[in-house]
Amino acid sequence: MVDRPRRRRETSPAAADIQLDLFAPETQTPPTVPVIPTSSMAVNPGTSTAGAKASRATAPALFETIDPFHQQLARCQSLEELAAFARSCQRCRLRGGCRQVVFGEGDPHAQLLIIGEGPGATEDELGRPFVGLAGQLLDRMLAATGFARDEVYITNTVKCRPPGNRVPAPDEIATCFPYLEAQIHWIRPKVILCLGSPALQTMVGPTARITRDHGKWFNWRGIPVIATFHPAALLRDPGKKPLAWQDLQEMRRRFLELGGSMRGRVGGHSGAGERAGTNSG
Ligand code: URA
Repeated sequence: MVDRPRRRRETSPAAADIQLDLFAPETQTPPTVPVIPTSSMAVNPGTSTAGAKASRATAPALFETIDPFHQQLARCQSLEELAAFARSCQRCRLRGGCRQVVFGEGDPHAQLLIIGEGPGATEDELGRPFVGLAGQLLDRMLAATGFARDEVYITNTVKCRPPGNRVPAPDEIATCFPYLEAQIHWIRPKVILCLGSPALQTMVGPTARITRDHGKWFNWRGIPVIATFHPAALLRDPGKKPLAWQDLQEMRRRFLELGGSMRGRVGGHSGAGERAGTNSG
């Protein structure tokens, strides 16, 4: 996961003002970029497609354990019950330093699952993921890619805000992972989009590097996983936005190839949705 904790830099409003055309609120027509060849999907070792084939009704292997925590996790019969269980969590030090558990939000049957790093100050205050400056940019990135925020599901590697916005420690991510694993079990997305290094390393392995591995396909229990730069990183370094745009185009391409559909139109225009049009799979 993450080699060592380091501080996340706060994103200042000034940085947010530095807008490139990409993902800017006024974006009308995103530039087209060459399609990245994806003939070979990188598959991280140790994963299998068994999870993808298991039905929702079948208890997955992850629940076949007897410790009290996993027993309680296994008793959760829906995403809502899982959220309530997570909100009572005291399993790691993070809970003592935050206001509330930020479980995640969105369509419980979303075809696209987005995994960020961890709640920041605004998220901790409001109890919702990605609602600060980085969240505003994420909304624009989604809209430019054709997704409405309420049709995806957004969560984080850790559900509690790390103090001072530091990067979550590997043991904190590991302790919180059963919730993420169970979220994926209930949501069963077609595609997982990781935002930033901690999310990428959580799903792919500790040797993954966001600068090298963004835009590549990985596989988590049969579910395609792709990563791009965290919106906070894009706010700090807008020069990375074209790379992120390519990653999102590739994510969208494969999402549609897998039969995924989205309401929005590319560029984030409202109006007649693509779900009823060319993207209906
Ligand atoms: N950054 C994240 O990684 N997650 C959030 O929910 C907000 C900011």
